[in-house]
Amino acid sequence: MGVHILDAMSREGFEEVVALHDRRSNLRAFLAVHDTSRGPAFGGIRRWTYYDEDQALRDVLRLSRAMTYKAALAELDAGGAKLVILDRPDLDVDEGYRFLGDFVERLGGRFYTGPDVGTGATELACLTERTRFATDPGPNGPGKLAEATVAGVVAGMEAALELLDGAVDWPRRTVVVQGLGEVGAGVARRLVAAGAKVLAAELDAERAEAVAADLELELLDPSCEYDPTCDVFAPCALGGILHDLTLTRLHCRVVAGGANNVLARPLHGDRLHERGILYVPDFVINAGALIRGATFHLTGARESVDSIGRRVGRVAGEILRLAAEEGAPPARIAVREAERRIDAGRDSSRDAHRGGPHLIDR
Ligand code: NAI
Repeated sequence: MGVHILDAMSREGFEEVVALHDRRSNLRAFLAVHDTSRGPAFGGIRRWTYYDEDQALRDVLRLSRAMTYKAALAELDAGGAKLVILDRPDLDVDEGYRFLGDFVERLGGRFYTGPDVGTGATELACLTERTRFATDPGPNGPGKLAEATVAGVVAGMEAALELLDGAVDWPRRTVVVQGLGEVGAGVARRLVAAGAKVLAAELDAERAEAVAADLELELLDPSCEYDPTCDVFAPCALGGILHDLTLTRLHCRVVAGGANNVLARPLHGDRLHERGILYVPDFVINAGALIRGATFHLTGARESVDSIGRRVGRVAGEILRLAAEEGAPPARIAVREAERRIDAGRDSSRDAHRGGPHLIDR
């Protein structure tokens, strides 16, 4: 069944959804701005071969709302958005990104954008030809986005282990890392250096061999990646991987990784909780790149990767402690806490409007 877009927007508080088409490049895309009550909306551009428009629309809505939650819990003066491109063979990629650069520039700083799946340095360079409001992949940009994510993911794992056992103690831990891309390989590298035993699965065989040889870690066949007994299962590949079929295969104590939208549906967070597996919510643990990028765009400062790690670890620890005190699934608590902060932002932006015209340029 198709998405009833206005119903979905009013139910979940979206501000704006824009459909974009460019005749010249054949670009087709959706922008969703979920919430700007705490500040301008941040979100990368995902370029993906979607099955149909409906799937793309669902993805952009889900991802943009998660960005708002991520920004709120990281205490950034920022909101959430996302742009998805429906990738097709007839798309002129460079021209399409230039078109998007012009579009983002016209929004005047209400929306800042950057990398995501399908948008790397080449695509960002086309965007930054046309707009000030996109991440510069070169030395003038924030840099170290994936490193910031990695530091947060490891700190989030440590917060979970501290809560369970009162100590991190990496040398006696086993971690399964799913996906050895930028984030997964970075997480594996840090854990190996800390003395943990790391097992990893990667679909791209060449990449898997290269990372495994470099880090001396043990490779798993991707068809068995959910099965090993371990302390932490770290999803660092795609979203939607925890569902009825995979959940029952897990033999871990903690799920904590960099991927966005790990749970196929919210109820799968409840299922993990019922099975006694501690889930560190994705939008809490993978906020590192957003913190680094948004802080740079909003203040010009490059917050250090270590400081970002500590910040993510502290928030993850708070959410997990609250969840433990209430005996509730951490994903539910994280959503509640994020919504509380967003509501407070809405109240204060309403108060600002009541005070007469204001000069904040969003
Ligand atoms: P990437 O594209 O560099 O790496 C993902 C890797 O996962 C690829 O090498 C792919 O072959 C592999 N893969 C896909 N499905 C797999 C499976 N079932 N089993 C094993 N390997 C599989 O992406 P990156 O940048 O490392 O990001 C990973 C995840 O983290 C994505 O979901 C991304 O949205 C999310 N994320 C990344 C951030 C960043 O700073 N790069 C920030 C926040 C979230």
